[in-house]
Amino acid sequence: MEFNLTEEQIAVRDAARDFAQNVCKPGVIERDTHQIVPKEQLKQLGELGFMGMMVDPKYGGSGMDTISYCLAMEEISKIDASVSVAMSVNNSLVCWGLEHFGTEEQKQKYLVPLAKGEIVGAFCLSEPEAGSDATSQRTTAIDKGDYYLLNGTKNWITNGSTASVYLVIAQTDVEKGHRGINAFIVEKGMEGFEVGAKEDKLGIRGSDTHTLLFNDVKVPKENRIGEDGFGFKFAMKTLAGGRIGIASQALGIASGAYELALAYSKVRETFGKPIAQHQAIQFKLSKMALDIEAARLLVHKAAWHKDQYMDYNTSGAMAKLFASQVAMDTTVEAVQIHGGYGYVKEYHVERLMRDAKITQIYEGTSEIQNIVIARSILRD
Ligand code: CAA
Repeated sequence: MEFNLTEEQIAVRDAARDFAQNVCKPGVIERDTHQIVPKEQLKQLGELGFMGMMVDPKYGGSGMDTISYCLAMEEISKIDASVSVAMSVNNSLVCWGLEHFGTEEQKQKYLVPLAKGEIVGAFCLSEPEAGSDATSQRTTAIDKGDYYLLNGTKNWITNGSTASVYLVIAQTDVEKGHRGINAFIVEKGMEGFEVGAKEDKLGIRGSDTHTLLFNDVKVPKENRIGEDGFGFKFAMKTLAGGRIGIASQALGIASGAYELALAYSKVRETFGKPIAQHQAIQFKLSKMALDIEAARLLVHKAAWHKDQYMDYNTSGAMAKLFASQVAMDTTVEAVQIHGGYGYVKEYHVERLMRDAKITQIYEGTSEIQNIVIARSILRD
């Protein structure tokens, strides 16, 4: 068993840490307050090779392992989870899905610019009535011979307006249930495709979350991903890896809040000594450090499973479930340690606390992760 990072992984982590400090940190409070999408940060992430980290270099990616991706996600999420969610969706859902299940033509046309970070992608599964219950797709894609006619609405879509390419899940044959679902590549600008309202959110406010509307969009046949009826499995397989990315995001939010609380507790004095000298604060810091370490072990184990081509469905769900709870607990305690300062924007921890909550909701709620874990336990 090897717990040390390789030199290459350390270099990736350090590059991500520098990027987060020097490129993401300036303006993070303003972007959060005014819901400004971090377009410049995403462009620079692309130039660093971080928008297609795990993609084969022959398709414009960086050819890195999943552990490196998790390390980069953690570092960037410590500072700005709005940047890291865009990065996560592009890497784990859009690029991974296209690289593993796309045709050669789809890869050349879409994956290459996505992996290079020249364009951004979005993953469109959720609907007004199909969030956790993902088989209940109401969006339809009717086979019309040369094309599919796409109609419906998608909700809470990350990168909703900045994306150029959208992977859209839709029901082709309702009689077949989940085996009648397909996944399609939809381009911004296709007639009948409209980016709808932007959500005004509690957290990750720099990330553009939109409703998408499809009204008689003609999607060419060659834009279907995989065999007819593969769409639900495509979504599940893709999300299984996506959850490792979001677990890393949660871990980063937790460790960012912990680092701020630790530093603050050493300089803030009450009753004649730094608050870190009070046992009440030490117990909080100790629990935060322990929780974060345990979350990191789960995240890296799931990433390692993926890199070893082992099953990571359950370990990814465990990592996401645990790390997102740690993100919530740790950020709440970080605000508490900061006292009144923690409740104002300048000290960053209130934003991290708001950002933490989404990690228990998107790419499968905590309840969904429990279902995935329970099914695996009961199957064995
Ligand atoms: N890999 C491969 N196949 C899978 C799979 C996986 N991880 N999970 C399920 N499947 C297959 C099953 O084997 C089954 O196939 P067969 O019938 O051929 O055997 C089929 O899919 C249906 O599976 P289930 O019967 O288990 O399906 P279910 O309806 O009970 O749902 C679920 C399972 C785990 C609850 C699933 O619906 C789910 O994950 N829901 C959550 C959806 C989700 O994560 N949404 C997030 C939106 S995306 C997002 O948030 C992105 C963003 O913008 C940040």
